[in-house]
Amino acid sequence: MDLKFTIRDLSLASEGQRKIDWVIPRMQVLNSIRNEFEKQLPFAGKKVVICLHLEAKTAYLAQVIKAGGAEVTVVASNPLSTQDDVVAALVQSGIGAHAWYNATEEEYSSHLQLALDTEPDFIIDDGGDLVSTIHTTRPELLQKVKGGAEETTTGVLRLHSMARDGVLKFPMVAVNDAQCKYLFDNRYGTGQSVWDGIMRTTNLVVAGKTAVVAGYGWCGKGVALRAKGLGARVIICEINPIKANEALMDGFEVMPMVEAAKHGDFFITVTGNMNVINKEHFIVMKSGAIMCNAGHFDIEVNVAQLKEISVSERTARTNITEYTLPNGQNLYVLADGRLVNLAAGDGHPAEVMDMTFALQALSLEYIALNYEELEPKVYQVNTEIDEKVAMLKLQSLGLSIDKLTEEQAAYLGSWSSEA
Ligand SMILES: NC(=O)c1ccc[n+]([C@@H]2O[C@H](COP(=O)([O-])OP(=O)(O)OC[C@H]3O[C@@H](n4cnc5c(N)ncnc54)[C@H](O)[C@@H]3O)[C@@H](O)[C@H]2O)c1
Repeated sequence: MDLKFTIRDLSLASEGQRKIDWVIPRMQVLNSIRNEFEKQLPFAGKKVVICLHLEAKTAYLAQVIKAGGAEVTVVASNPLSTQDDVVAALVQSGIGAHAWYNATEEEYSSHLQLALDTEPDFIIDDGGDLVSTIHTTRPELLQKVKGGAEETTTGVLRLHSMARDGVLKFPMVAVNDAQCKYLFDNRYGTGQSVWDGIMRTTNLVVAGKTAVVAGYGWCGKGVALRAKGLGARVIICEINPIKANEALMDGFEVMPMVEAAKHGDFFITVTGNMNVINKEHFIVMKSGAIMCNAGHFDIEVNVAQLKEISVSERTARTNITEYTLPNGQNLYVLADGRLVNLAAGDGHPAEVMDMTFALQALSLEYIALNYEELEPKVYQVNTEIDEKVAMLKLQSLGLSIDKLTEEQAAYLGSWSSEA
């Protein structure tokens, strides 16, 4: 294979490989899948493009897909989450890569195009940029791409709207919607890594402060739960009355953002929606308030509007921008409003991503084995794959669970009142 790469510095490879080596023993489910892939080679002779946040755990997923016989190329799903040393290590291990930290918009798009020049058979996407780029700019590839898997809530929503409009041209598995994904990655992964990102970036105390979390979906629940554990007073902002009631019964305060804006020390948006914190909120915030986003795109905190109403801005600390309003109040935005846990941290813990990436690997295998029978639509991860990942995870932890007896199975499967 003629290995192609566009990266910052290949000499960083040994540091990157050290990071990958740290996660491998902590991703036991993925390790057992790698062992299966090495024997069965489900992707033999096929090309795979992987578009994810490029750090150690995703790098290991790329290596596992390669172990399954694929020719793999990686590209970034976010310009600020790429770790240049990890990407160098991937190239060193025979994986094509087009990505570097802090790529400009033009560089980011050109990297996607370079990855697509490999003419992939299968893809893994995170947020939908790769799928959308293929459909809008590379129609000649629509025949070649046989399908793929999508990582996150926002990407799955985009896929559903493409399918609804009849434009999606190949099958995609919604990995995000598997129980082994959102119950653990979105909730506990985001919960922990968002606070890790905030704390390592600001080096400030959380206990006794007020944290405002916008969005009480799977990610928001995790962020709120960890904020509570850290000793914060937690306020939830929602647009969905059912989620708002859930937040209330989980023990949190609920109010609209315009009210919460007056109280918050930390603001975390995690809605997948745009312009959740705007000018009307900035102007009533306390001086010193810190805002960040954990939703997929950097559109939740309206940073453009904050710039407009500020008299000055400066870098207060790495990954912290200070905005001064005309009244002298200072407001802070972490990582320019990009995913704080990835742009200002290392992302989710390896043990959590073990389950997500096991789902990715098995979903891609499912596509590779079945694409001839599949239609161009969004597929759910099948229950056997979800349960296999859960069982492998328990086994990797040395745990086992009870089994239904025949009598119990018959009882649960019968409708009559006589057992
Ligand atoms: N940071 C990460 O590592 C990470 C991990 C997984 C998912 N994500 C991303 O996080 C976002 C949320 O994912 P999720 O799985 O929690 O989604 P979800 O659909 O479960 O929850 C989103 C919640 O936001 C609420 N919401 C929408 N607009 C709102 C608004 N204007 N104000 C307040 N609440 C609003 C919705 O009612 C919903 O309850 C998505 O963009 C997803 O791709 C990020």
